Order: sequence, then C-alpha cells, then structure tokens
Amino acid sequence: MTAFEAAGLTRSYQLEGVTVDALRGVDLTIGDGEFAAILGPSGSGKSTLMHLLGCLDRPTSGVLKVGGVDVSTLDDTRLAELRNQMIGFVFQSFHLLARTSALDNVALPLVYRGVAKTERRARARRALEAVGLAHRLDHRPSQMSGGEQQRVAIARALVGDPQVVLADEPTGNLDTRNGEEVMGLLERLNTDQGVAIVLVTHEPEVANRARRQIHVRDGLIERDVA
Ligand SMILES: Nc1ncnc2c1ncn2[C@@H]1O[C@H](COP(=O)(O)OP(=O)(O)O)[C@@H](O)[C@H]1O
Ligand SMILES: [Mg+2]
Repeated sequence: MTAFEAAGLTRSYQLEGVTVDALRGVDLTIGDGEFAAILGPSGSGKSTLMHLLGCLDRPTSGVLKVGGVDVSTLDDTRLAELRNQMIGFVFQSFHLLARTSALDNVALPLVYRGVAKTERRARARRALEAVGLAHRLDHRPSQMSGGEQQRVAIARALVGDPQVVLADEPTGNLDTRNGEEVMGLLERLNTDQGVAIVLVTHEPEVANRARRQIHVRDGLIERDVA
C-alpha cells in the first residue's frame, strides 16, 4: 500500500487580504515503511506539507490520498478518524499537556478511539516502556527533561499503532545526545515495526539517517533523492 499520494497539491493562506501560496503544486508518493526526510529553508512550506499529509488541514487544490483514501471524499469527522487511526505526530515543541502525567498524555489518543480506561492505561504504559520511560509514568512534562518530553511525545504517537509517524523537527529543541536518542527510537520504529517515518529537519546529520531526502523550496519539491 501507499501511505501518501499527492498530485498537484496546493495550499494557499489568506492573510489580511494577501494570498500566500505556501505549496504550489506538489507531486509526491511515500510508500509504506519508508523513512524520508523533508528539508528546505524556513518558509518553504515544510510544515504546511506535513499538516496536509497528517490530515490536520486540507489542500486548496490537488489530490491527496492517505492510505489510499482521497481525503476530499471525507467530511471532517471521517478525516479525523483516518488521522487518529493511521498517523502519529511528533512536534518540535512536544505539544504535551502540562498538568497531565506522562501516562495520561500518552493514553489520550485512545480516548478518542473509545478504548476503555484500563486498556488505555496498559497500552500507554507499554508505549512508555518502549521509549525507556517506565520509571516516569506519573511525572508531568514540567518534571522531565526535553529529551524525556520528546520520548513521551513519541510514545503518544505510537500508542495507537500508526502506519506513519510524522515528525516536524523532532530534534530541533534537543541537545546532541537527546537528539541522537530520539533519532535512534524513530529508526528502530521504522526498521523493527515497519512504521513509515516522515520527518522535517534542518540538520544534515539527521536528514542523512533517512533513506530518502525530499528538498522543498518555495512551495515546490526541488529535489527528491533516494
Ligand atoms: N496559518 C498561516 N497563515 C498565513 N500564512 C501562513 C500560515 N502558515 C504558514 N504560512 C506561510 O506559508 C509559508 C510556508 O510556511 P511553512 O509551511 O510553515 O514553512 P516551513 O515549515 O518550511 O518553515 C510561509 O510563507 C508562511 O509564512
Ligand atoms: Mg516549519
């Protein structure tokens, strides 16, 4: 199967009467189990593309198929379901709930799937164990280091058994050692579990660990190197 298939994808934003063409016609196919890095200067459209792939946003024009499904055929509820079932997200700034324990942060995506509480907590515990945080279940994000917080975010992305993890500069706020650890986790997820990884990065050493580098410039794919 194909994780993503985009043809002529555009996304324009209206900002105070001015149109910003953030994506200007992207053709892109990402297969199941791939490990791809998206690179490009600031403002080139990387996050916009990730939001579209992740079904957090809809294209202005063009066709986008996620897991073989044309997203334009889905209403907002069905689109959210597809996202919840297929995709896990990791963001640069972690996006965890500050006053909520690691365990409950990780269990949250399962609430939207209607998984019962006992099972939610058991699965969240397993996901935290998988990222090496079995000893931090009851800690809140503020009581953890940046590297630990990002590992909680990865556990949250994994708890629903996604086919794809989308990571927007996952190591951007981490020091070298923690960045290394986060990359190791993503790599293992890809090789051991076959989860496709698409990550945005500014760092060449991070991009070089992916098997494919997609270079974005001015809202277009400039180069795509496998
Ligand atoms: N919500 C928004 N409203 C208006 N313009 C936006 C919005 N989000 C992004 N943009 C603009 O779209 C372009 C691409 O942004 P973005 O996808 O965030 O780039 P990148 O992630 O590569 O830095 C930029 O010019 C940015 O200012
Ligand atoms: Mg960005």
